[in-house]
Amino acid sequence: MEYSKKVMEHFANPHNVGVIEDANGVGEIGNAKCGDIMKMYLKIENDIIVDVKFKTYGCASAIATSSIATDLIKGQPISEALKLTNKAVVEALDGLPAVKIHCSVLAEQAIKAALSDYYTRQGIDPVPIVGVIEEHDHEH
Ligand code: FES
Repeated sequence: MEYSKKVMEHFANPHNVGVIEDANGVGEIGNAKCGDIMKMYLKIENDIIVDVKFKTYGCASAIATSSIATDLIKGQPISEALKLTNKAVVEALDGLPAVKIHCSVLAEQAIKAALSDYYTRQGIDPVPIVGVIEEHDHEH
């Protein structure tokens, strides 16, 4: 199994690792395939993701994908973060071994779960986002 240089870089030196104490969107997702867990913290102001951090009990691919996924959504509006797919994340990493593709779904889903939590806290119905998460579950 070969990892791209980018995967190795993000695994060795992951960006945005940690916890945001005053996060206003927090999402936790477990990977049904391997049991790994990821927790995503978002700080959102005026619909912009001003800060994002993650913690994971996951494999190298989960760490690398979260690192690059959080880079991709930081400073972006919520609408852009919602468009982020695991495919885009894998492409940004110059690919992942086929058996590791399921790991990249964890980052995408944790971000969506955190956005869903944000909406719930704002009193907005998060059903459209939850629907997106469930759709992905069915793909496995
Ligand atoms: Fe669990 Fe990669 S093996 S997330």
